[in-house]
Amino acid sequence: MLSNYINKISQGDCLELFKNIPDDSVDITFADPPFNLKKNYNSYNDSLELENYLNWCEKWIFEMVRVTKPTGSIFIHNIPKWLTFFTNSLNKFAYFKHWISWEAPTSPMGKSLQPAHYGILFYTKKNKGSKIYELRYPHKRDRKHGFLLKDYGGKKDGLHPFGPLISDVWTDIHRIKHNKNRDAHPCQLPIHLLDRIILMTTDQNDIVLDPFSGTGTTAISAKRLGRQYIGFEMDLNYVKISEEKLSNTKPDYKLGDIWVSFYLNKVVTIRNKDWLNLMKYFDIPVVAKNVDFEKTKLKNTSFVPDDLNNVGKKLKKKSYKAVEMENQNMLIFNE
Ligand SMILES: C[S@@+](CC[C@H](N)C(=O)[O-])C[C@H]1O[C@@H](n2cnc3c(N)ncnc32)[C@H](O)[C@@H]1O
Repeated sequence: MLSNYINKISQGDCLELFKNIPDDSVDITFADPPFNLKKNYNSYNDSLELENYLNWCEKWIFEMVRVTKPTGSIFIHNIPKWLTFFTNSLNKFAYFKHWISWEAPTSPMGKSLQPAHYGILFYTKKNKGSKIYELRYPHKRDRKHGFLLKDYGGKKDGLHPFGPLISDVWTDIHRIKHNKNRDAHPCQLPIHLLDRIILMTTDQNDIVLDPFSGTGTTAISAKRLGRQYIGFEMDLNYVKISEEKLSNTKPDYKLGDIWVSFYLNKVVTIRNKDWLNLMKYFDIPVVAKNVDFEKTKLKNTSFVPDDLNNVGKKLKKKSYKAVEMENQNMLIFNE
């Protein structure tokens, strides 16, 4: 029964656990499988013969597509080398949307080009009727002076005050570098990478399934964005770490009642369709073209959720309530 697996990280082999998940029952599936690069996992041999690895991958890829709803999407994160094989499997069962290139240094692959991106395959279960939302991220700026990095010439007046629509090349999310920010796991993903995928393809209460949950990155992202999750993970220790983190995670990644992704006290991903309702939470340059050197900023950092994934000094100039009331008054005044 599906309900036995909802909002849990189940310990075991994903191919066995998938047998209990009905067809067309979850909204999206995301997999970050072992890369077969001899990584040092606790209880998994990450060094299979090529053919064995690819045969095994085809099995769980089939299962991911099977359990995804007709409106849903399927994502697989890996190094480009393996993704070229995975597209062969996916093209048989699902519909290609994008190869998302996530800029991040990866292991050297010999003396040719230095690998600088991971790929995330984005497929939909059906050709039409898939749930997909356009997203925006903050403008990229020169760190020292705050000017826009891209030269928009005379078109600055027309720029979106929050930032551009997100493309299939993601350069603004970095791998977890410092050991103090990571668990005892060799390849944990940044949570706001998953926030982006979840905001793009699900709504509140939708179900997100990850068959290689690791230390629970996908589940934490789903929970803090008000979604439900199903996680499978072979290693009991990683399951325990995930459960501990999930018990400290609240569904609070929102401004008012709109779900957004935060990172380091800033909003880093929003849905395009939400902007009109989100504007009241931001200080926006009054003169449109000043976006060139003036940032659109949260009016108050007390809007930022205070959870374990977002520690840091917060300026609490005004309470959330006070700013909410201020906004209400402004809205009434403007009517
Ligand atoms: C690349 S890691 C996933 C990391 C995860 N995305 C995170 O951010 O923590 C792959 C995970 O798959 C788990 N694993 C390997 N084989 C598995 C299997 N057959 N079923 C379930 N989990 C498995 C490993 O223990 C490892 O934690």
